Amino acid sequence: ETARLTLDRDFTIAPVGRRLFGSFVEHMGRCVYTGIFEPGHPTADEHGFRADVLELTRELGVSVVRYPGGNFVSGYRWEDGVGPVADRPTRLDLAWRQIETNRFGLDEFMTWTRAAGVEPMMAVNLGTRGIQEACDLLEYANHPGGTRLSDLRAEHGRPDPYGIRLWCLGNEMDGPWQVGHKTADEYGRLANETARAMRLVDPDVRLVLCGSSNSRMPTFGGWEATVLEHAYDAVDYLSLHAYYEEDGDLPGFLASAADMDRFISSVVATADHVAAKQRTRKRIDLSFDEWNVWNQADYHGREREPFEEAPRLIEDTYTAADAVVVGDLLITLLRHADRVAVACQAQLANIIAPIRTEPGGPAWRQSIFHPFALTARHARGEVLRVEPVSPSLDTGRHGEVPQLSAVATLDEDGVTLFAVNRSPDRPLEMTADLRDVHADRVVEACTLAEDDPHRVGGPAEEVRPRPLDGVKADGGTLTAVLPPASWTMVRLG
Ligand code: AHR
Repeated sequence: ETARLTLDRDFTIAPVGRRLFGSFVEHMGRCVYTGIFEPGHPTADEHGFRADVLELTRELGVSVVRYPGGNFVSGYRWEDGVGPVADRPTRLDLAWRQIETNRFGLDEFMTWTRAAGVEPMMAVNLGTRGIQEACDLLEYANHPGGTRLSDLRAEHGRPDPYGIRLWCLGNEMDGPWQVGHKTADEYGRLANETARAMRLVDPDVRLVLCGSSNSRMPTFGGWEATVLEHAYDAVDYLSLHAYYEEDGDLPGFLASAADMDRFISSVVATADHVAAKQRTRKRIDLSFDEWNVWNQADYHGREREPFEEAPRLIEDTYTAADAVVVGDLLITLLRHADRVAVACQAQLANIIAPIRTEPGGPAWRQSIFHPFALTARHARGEVLRVEPVSPSLDTGRHGEVPQLSAVATLDEDGVTLFAVNRSPDRPLEMTADLRDVHADRVVEACTLAEDDPHRVGGPAEEVRPRPLDGVKADGGTLTAVLPPASWTMVRLG
């Protein structure tokens, strides 16, 4: 099998937005407690932050971190998490049936974001709460001083405003599982009024309106159109969420990114349709603020379990195939960099995460860590439209899809090409016409592929990228053979 593509410096999509490499920290399971925060852990600093996890977070190249949920935010009282720790109440979290001690809250999160070198993205509770509480939280976070809540922040030892720019107007409000779930009209009106009031508190915020929880929701499409009809003028972004699982179908799973691609195109079309109806030139961009592989076969919700503190929830152990899919989802986000402004892999630690930890024990990189870290590090400059011409694969789940998925980025140091061979059993020969990119020296070529795509990586990090032999760049043409079910990165200088 052969596939070809073209790298031309004039065929650009958009600059690589750093906010595409976001992640997510929810008060869920062990993401916060014994994930990023574990006072008493051998590596814990004076704030109780695990230094091993901080180091891996920096290595992962995460740019933005969404917080504090997720479904958790829809019943959360942000005031519980600020002020002297001894005075903070312990509460029931109804979303995940957890006991929430509130030892970690907004101020700790902000201190952690600075240590990690990431931008915060906050969510407000539009499930059980409304406009006033959202404005109060924003006043506490961003108002310079001289008011009750901004002075309270100063009393808590944070005199300088946080200046948080990115704010989510609730989470998955279309989902019947959401505490305070709403119809599209109810949510659209509430989000519009909340957005208008938040802009009065701080005109510099960038606001994310909830789209559908996933593209299989019965209200998908209609929900986006209705909430945008209500709130188009008041918001900046519309959210998308998607999780992919193998579910006993490896060929279909390896083609998951084809579904993400269609999902993004449909939401862009819906947003532009509302723009046309409203006769506005304003363009709504997308915030893909939850995406990942989540093998849900063993997940049955938590309707009856006892309330617990930091329970072990959805701690997926990832395979080589999972890492290939994650790499392909990142390729797809880059290919839509003209409309996807923010993207957050869900989540950062332990919960369906690239970083796993044990309480009191080690932290390690899962297989999916590697394509994320390498893409975040080496996708720089402009995204190029490479237009692969590829054999196709017939997958039951996603119909006919191209076997090769690819994207490239170009900056002053050269070109980086990211490519996935979606076939579970056939190698793919790839040739790239290098035209005028002036980069014909192979600086690095690596691939993540295992003879057994179901091989899992544990604390010994067995599943990781390895050098790819035989990659050549001669006479303006790059050639490489991509193993079956592989994610590959080639850097040319
Ligand atoms: O990331 C896990 C959960 O998945 C989030 O809380 C929710 O928003 C989504 O359904």
